[in-house]
Amino acid sequence: MTKSIVVLGTQWGDEGKGKIVDLLSKDVDAVVRFQGGHNAGHTLVIDGKKTVLHLIPSGILNEGAQCLIGNGLVVSLEALKKETESLEAWGVDVRSRLMISPACPIIMPYHEKLDHAREKAKGAKAIGTTGRGIGPAYEDKVSRRGIRMSDLNNHELLAEKLEESMDYHNFVLEKYFNMPGLAYDRVLDDALQLGACFADLVGDVSGELHRLRTEGKRILYEGAQGTLLDIDHGTYPFVTSSNTTIGAVCTGAGVGPDAIDYVLGITKAYTTRVGSGPFPTELFDDIGAGLAERGAEFGATTGRPRRCGWLDAVALRRAAHTNGVSGFCVTKMDVLDEVETIKVGVAYRLGDEVLDVPPQNPEAWDDLEVEYESFPGWQQSTRGITRFEDLPANAKSYLATIEALCGAPVHIVSTGPDRKESIIIQHPSD
Ligand code: IMP
Repeated sequence: MTKSIVVLGTQWGDEGKGKIVDLLSKDVDAVVRFQGGHNAGHTLVIDGKKTVLHLIPSGILNEGAQCLIGNGLVVSLEALKKETESLEAWGVDVRSRLMISPACPIIMPYHEKLDHAREKAKGAKAIGTTGRGIGPAYEDKVSRRGIRMSDLNNHELLAEKLEESMDYHNFVLEKYFNMPGLAYDRVLDDALQLGACFADLVGDVSGELHRLRTEGKRILYEGAQGTLLDIDHGTYPFVTSSNTTIGAVCTGAGVGPDAIDYVLGITKAYTTRVGSGPFPTELFDDIGAGLAERGAEFGATTGRPRRCGWLDAVALRRAAHTNGVSGFCVTKMDVLDEVETIKVGVAYRLGDEVLDVPPQNPEAWDDLEVEYESFPGWQQSTRGITRFEDLPANAKSYLATIEALCGAPVHIVSTGPDRKESIIIQHPSD
């Protein structure tokens, strides 16, 4: 039996990871996040009731699952408080089941302010960030200037580190961006107050995972964003500031590669992206607008409309290699129900060259042309189907096409937003 499953996005995020993590978490003992922050928006629908989680692992709605936030995340205490309180208002016991690594860097108010200032200064070249301070917080981590969860318990150390950090950031805000800095006392007080709410949840996540694994417990690692937003492997610079690919599980949770038994790559049946940057199979016509409408394609974190396009098998192929995908989960299959002819990007053309994986130099993305293959749609409802054999023949062959083009089997299909609207062809745990 497979003990540890990793769920990763294989596109530009928003693939529906939250729903799948929630679905699988009823069979696991722990759910772990290992990168990103509250830029993620994981939407779960249970019996028609919708929840959006940003920071707390999507296993929180399954009582049996312990939830762990690994050192690879950048944590906003304010977002954590808000999310904890709204889950508690629903009757979910968060505190007895959540552990946060002491090594998580904290997203401070000046990080958010800097994120906005930078985006504004970039004008037309803006990345289109979520404005949550993610990039500046990771920069502070790497520059060894970051304030971490462990610092919250040590008033003196926190005051000292914060002073040093704010000297620098206020200088940048005031002198470079020409805007007011933040008041040190206020930031310190807020951090102390918010920190006190979570001090008892700080614990050794890496050690806990080792213990769980040794006891033979089942662990699910929940990725955020997607492969094409990875700081190294994505469409740089239009990416997020963390590694969203498989290696981040080890570095961001503190486990060895032997802790990973199965990698589930989540892809929509088509493609979406929020924010700026290359998107070779993007549609600018009525078909794209139809996908956006039927798929309710608005960002779960920022509410921004998502750009929509055909499935990009070239990019998916790369994601399958980069992450060692064991099986795919294809989500939002039902959104294609009415499409007469479905296209899939099968290769890129760059001048005279035909590429079967995306180029690694970002500038080349602008000059790509996509070669498509067309497939007949099924033009009947797949909404809510739970058995593979009940899918229309053309839907089955679309899934077989994805397998053939991307080099990994399809193990799960999602046919609607509810936990129940899923087809499990092969359970990742089997
Ligand atoms: P940041 O992560 O806020 O710095 O944003 C950098 C890029 O990643 C922007 O294009 C965002 O739209 C995108 N991004 C960040 N988080 C998500 C997500 O959870 N889903 C989709 N896109 C995301």
